[in-house]
Amino acid sequence: MAVITTIDDLHRLYRRRAPRMFYDYCESGSWTEQTFRDNIGDFQKIRLRQRVAVDMSNRSTASTMIGERVAMPVALAPVGMTGMQHADGEILAARAAEAFGVPFTLSTMSICSIEDVAAQTSKPFWFQLYVMKDEDFVRRLIGRARDAGCSALVLTLDLQLLGQRHKDLKNGLSAPPKLTLPVIADLATKWRWGLGMLATKRRKFGNIVGHAQGVGDPASLMAWTAEQFDPQLDWGKIEKLRDLWGGKLILKGILDAEDAVMAQKIGADAIVVSNHGGRQLDGAHSSIRMLPSILEALGGRTEVHLDSGIRSGQDVLKALAMGAQGTFIGRAFVYGLGAMGQAGVTKALQVIHTELDKTMALCGERDVTALGRHNLIVPQGFDDPTAVV
Ligand SMILES: Cc1cc2nc3c(=O)[nH]c(=O)nc-3n(C[C@H](O)[C@H](O)[C@H](O)COP(=O)(O)O)c2cc1C
Repeated sequence: MAVITTIDDLHRLYRRRAPRMFYDYCESGSWTEQTFRDNIGDFQKIRLRQRVAVDMSNRSTASTMIGERVAMPVALAPVGMTGMQHADGEILAARAAEAFGVPFTLSTMSICSIEDVAAQTSKPFWFQLYVMKDEDFVRRLIGRARDAGCSALVLTLDLQLLGQRHKDLKNGLSAPPKLTLPVIADLATKWRWGLGMLATKRRKFGNIVGHAQGVGDPASLMAWTAEQFDPQLDWGKIEKLRDLWGGKLILKGILDAEDAVMAQKIGADAIVVSNHGGRQLDGAHSSIRMLPSILEALGGRTEVHLDSGIRSGQDVLKALAMGAQGTFIGRAFVYGLGAMGQAGVTKALQVIHTELDKTMALCGERDVTALGRHNLIVPQGFDDPTAVV
């Protein structure tokens, strides 16, 4: 591909270069994928107010997320198995984020371990925790994140069990992939990916293998993770984890105003309004649709971030203008990584930054922190989750 100008360009390249099993893992929603589609479709329903004859020199996209300076309020979301999309994927994405000046979040289910990413980067990153039944393992994981200098714990609340994604079951998703005939036939066309994987030792879940009891080979690992997510996670346990961590806490996966108020009560530093990119409760509303009711319930006393469905800088602008202080991107950076490694993640960030900056200017704004509802034309009823829009 000659010139890359959009996230969609990276998506097309990623599709050609990544093994089918991992492409499907990324590009799926749960069940009918209605929520996955709505996440994108609802952003498109919001329109922008064009303003003219406004001085648009000296623009700034700089802001803060949980008190940390960011070049633009766009963090890389935790994405499991990033190191299967491209060899050493988590390290490459973390380096790209660091150079760009945006936060990187490492997933519990990463291929590169916390220690490995810390050794290969020079700024603190955020660590995302899935709460497992094995309390001792969780305690040690939190300790490892603290020792590695992670500056925030992102506690994911919307995955106490796995939303069913049909393609993953049909493909027999595993890390590393099992070499069945269809997988071998697919890998034969993905030589770039294969060469990278042959050259790295990082092919298993680095935070887990060697750290959790009874986990040796990959097969038992898949069984272990499927069984290990804690279905009994509740607000009492969240409070204990907050105290155990003792640092900045972001609660991710909140989609309802009542849950947001609970998060505020336990003193979260920020919440992420998210439906896990449409991968968990299919049939739930998009994040952008639920954002207004959540902001209203919180009354400006808790920082609110948003993810799910962001594919452009214009989407970022819409989320900010609707009232979020920050955003996360998941698939948008994975497309870049799978297409071109670290340079692809940088490209994804550049594309989003340019779109955000230019759109901001054409809306008559010079400072990303000054964006607001006055920049948008929002369909009637959009703020009301029960209205048909
Ligand atoms: C392939 C994939 C793996 C993911 N793994 C995790 C994970 O390990 N932990 C987590 O909290 N969220 C995970 N998520 C959800 C993302 O953090 C984020 O909420 C979502 O991708 C946002 O939607 P978007 O992809 O439309 O930007 C994953 C998402 C994808 C696409």
